[in-house]
Amino acid sequence: MDHFEYRAGELWADGVRVGGLVDRFGSPLYLYAARTIDDHIARFKAAFEALDPEIHYAVKACGNLAILQRLAGLGVGADAVSIGEVERARLAGVPSERIVMAGVAKTDDEMAAALDPARGPIGRFNIESEREPARVDAIAGRLGVRATASLRVNPDIDAHTHAYTTTGTNANKFGVPIERAEAVFEAARSLRHLELDGLHVHLGSPIQTIEPYERATRALLALIDRLEARGDAVRSLSLGGGFAADYESGQAPWAKDYARAIVPLLEDRARAGLRIAFEPGRTIMASAGVLLVRVIDVKRTPTKRFLICDAGMNALTRPALYGARHFVWPIEPGLDATPTARTFEPALAGGDAIAVEPADVVGPLCESSDVLAVDRKLPPVEPGAVLAVFTSGAYGMSMSTTLNDRPRPAEVLVDGDQTRLIRPRQTLDELLGPEVRALDA
Ligand code: LLP
Repeated sequence: MDHFEYRAGELWADGVRVGGLVDRFGSPLYLYAARTIDDHIARFKAAFEALDPEIHYAVKACGNLAILQRLAGLGVGADAVSIGEVERARLAGVPSERIVMAGVAKTDDEMAAALDPARGPIGRFNIESEREPARVDAIAGRLGVRATASLRVNPDIDAHTHAYTTTGTNANKFGVPIERAEAVFEAARSLRHLELDGLHVHLGSPIQTIEPYERATRALLALIDRLEARGDAVRSLSLGGGFAADYESGQAPWAKDYARAIVPLLEDRARAGLRIAFEPGRTIMASAGVLLVRVIDVKRTPTKRFLICDAGMNALTRPALYGARHFVWPIEPGLDATPTARTFEPALAGGDAIAVEPADVVGPLCESSDVLAVDRKLPPVEPGAVLAVFTSGAYGMSMSTTLNDRPRPAEVLVDGDQTRLIRPRQTLDELLGPEVRALDA
């Protein structure tokens, strides 16, 4: 569900005509619909209501401060994986105790900044290695604070997603093998400044099926039984993120579909006091955002039609990196060429009146990996047209680069008929200024 829809042949974002926004803010442009974000949080909360879970939004999906602020206003905490993300969450007004910090390579400086007594120590670390508890303990001791942590266990469960985003198998660097968990808890008993009292798991992203969550939940519940039998208390259980998003209409399970399988397994424990937590990123933000790019040129080769745009993998890396497929369509296709759903074999409102023809939607960069969509059926498109790359709100802007010295896009948030520039387009001075000043220094 999202607030992007075609009306009378033009794309609207909630109460605002998208074409007007491109005229005003230029392209490439990331555009987010605030009410979609609210709606996704509400649905997630409702689905898992019986567990009364803590929701720690995965900042890495889209960390814009205005968006984090909106989420903080909905009572959502933050899952951060660097001190930069912790700082973002704090700046957006997420209370320190609602921030959890994961990451396989936390440095001492990062741990110390996360525990800073003046800022308020973060609520919890997700421990990723056997060495980490003692490191956190030492830093907490030095700062005179107590740290709380969960152990991220790796249950060796395949989430059946892209190899690059699979994180819960023995082939991955994340967490501690589940069979080592008891030993880690035992070793942590003697630590005076760290309380290890929780478990964490994250299997990968996006996870299109429910079964990996079920298996992981069962494995962790069995582990909790074993730990408790040894006298170790487990007060918190986080099942991570990984919930899918609609890259094609109707593709992803709903929060309630995941909940139907997960809630019954955890309900009794939650009622007995176990705090359940989730770290959703993609499912909250993906379909809340579109990337808007302008077609600069249209080129034909004997075998291809290329729509060459003012941004490609520099703005949205996912198609180039993972072969990810995003629905792409002109923002002003006209009535007949309005798609009836976001599917890669699109049906048009005007039936066969408009002929669709394959095209590669590509960017300006100097390599052929620079694609936004490959061999996609699209209506006729002329230079100057603006295309929307849908479901780009998660891992879009946050993975963007300045490759080929292309400034990063602007970000705009729409709320009803209100529009807010939440990050101006990067200027050439911001891009090049630091080096110019270093030359002069
Ligand atoms: N928790 C942990 C520990 C994670 O590593 C991640 C994502 C999340 C939560 C949030 O997962 P989500 O709910 O967003 O699926 N760049 C890739 C996705 C990388 C995900 C990394 N970890 C992409 O564009 O598909």
